[in-house]
Amino acid sequence: MNILLLGSGGREHAIAWKISQSPKVDKLFIAPGNAGTAQVGTNAYIKADDFAAIKDFVLANDVNMVVVGPEDPLVKGVYDFFKNDASLAGIPVIGPSKAGAQLEGSKDFAKAFMMRHNIPTARYKSITAENIAEGYAFLESLPAPYVLKADGLAAGKGVLILETLEEAKKELGDMLNGMFGDASKTVVIEEFLTGIECSVFVMTDGTNYKVLPVAKDYKRIGEGNTGLNTGGMGAVSPVPFADEGYMAKVETQIIRPTIEGLKAEGIDYKGFIFLGLINENDPKVIEYNCRMGDPETEVVMLRIQSDLVDLLEGVAEGNLDKRTLTIDPRAAVTVMLVSGGYPEAYEKGKLIYGLNDITSDNIIFHAGTVSASDRIMTNGGRVIAVSSYGANKEEALAKSFAGAKTIMFDKKYFRSDIGFDL
Ligand code: AMP
Ligand code: GLY
Repeated sequence: MNILLLGSGGREHAIAWKISQSPKVDKLFIAPGNAGTAQVGTNAYIKADDFAAIKDFVLANDVNMVVVGPEDPLVKGVYDFFKNDASLAGIPVIGPSKAGAQLEGSKDFAKAFMMRHNIPTARYKSITAENIAEGYAFLESLPAPYVLKADGLAAGKGVLILETLEEAKKELGDMLNGMFGDASKTVVIEEFLTGIECSVFVMTDGTNYKVLPVAKDYKRIGEGNTGLNTGGMGAVSPVPFADEGYMAKVETQIIRPTIEGLKAEGIDYKGFIFLGLINENDPKVIEYNCRMGDPETEVVMLRIQSDLVDLLEGVAEGNLDKRTLTIDPRAAVTVMLVSGGYPEAYEKGKLIYGLNDITSDNIIFHAGTVSASDRIMTNGGRVIAVSSYGANKEEALAKSFAGAKTIMFDKKYFRSDIGFDL
């Protein structure tokens, strides 16, 4: 079969790497991809949300399945676009419908959904300009710190955590006044939860599901989890505290009610659900995403031993219960090399050296790279994820840090404490 994968980051390189190992695949296309995906498939220069161009490409290249990496095309309705077009309706899209993608696309929708289905999460109130007084009152009823979330997609920047009530009230006003454009016309105020976080990934055909390896990502730019939030600086799997007892709770209290809730509400969901969990005593949902995580995918794909394409077929055909998921018992880690300055202003176009000196200890996933006349250059804030296996996380991390030192580019930075808190 021929597969088209949408997206261009480290997550997509990792998914492409795994798909390319399947004996079921003839051709793998990645749109738009990066210099790394070009090593395991064929890049197609189409934007991941240009549906008309995707249609032309799919029909011209006999694509039999579309796998969606990022949230944007899902929230914009790529699943529905295929379903409602007679020439595309037979081609499965791995990813939820527009309605299902609202779990990520609207925090207000996600919170109300969790309330309807008794899924544990932080207490909250949704506020617009019309009921801002209720917002102030709710903030006054909470202890510090205060959590404000833009309802819509805000490129990962829409969550503010404020230390004082005064700041929280001011930021609430600014958000409602368009700080994140339309995305913050509604703001979700949440009680602040404390505890360690982890990322749980579920693959579902709408009825059956498989729980993929659990991972922990490191979001802050600085060592010791300090400084600004980033897309993610590294990841580790497995997560020691996510043991059998913990995962049994996650399944009964969160995963099953989520999948049954989507089904009961008539929402089409054939794809990945990413549960961002925080653990006070029991697990609670901090956020839903309608896609895999980045950089978590750069470790999760290493730990899936089974044929990913067989599982994706199960998702598409609604017989995921007939497919096998085997998980590699080894640890997998990834360390992200980023451009100096990220997540604020940074430069692109820096030549990357040392990729040919990488040993078989590392699996390299490109995040923000581009190739031009046989040279590979930086093309984003997150540049390259250096993944490794090990008998334990320490062994895997030693390999990834060695790889992270071998690859060079001007103003390279990485966190050398990934996994420190586990
Ligand atoms: P989100 O974009 O929803 O994942 O939020 C970004 C980060 O903010 C999360 O990974 C948490 O570290 C933090 N966060 C979000 N909501 C809460 C909350 N209710 N309590 C504590 N921390 C939170
Ligand atoms: N690593 C977190 C995310 O993908 O949203």
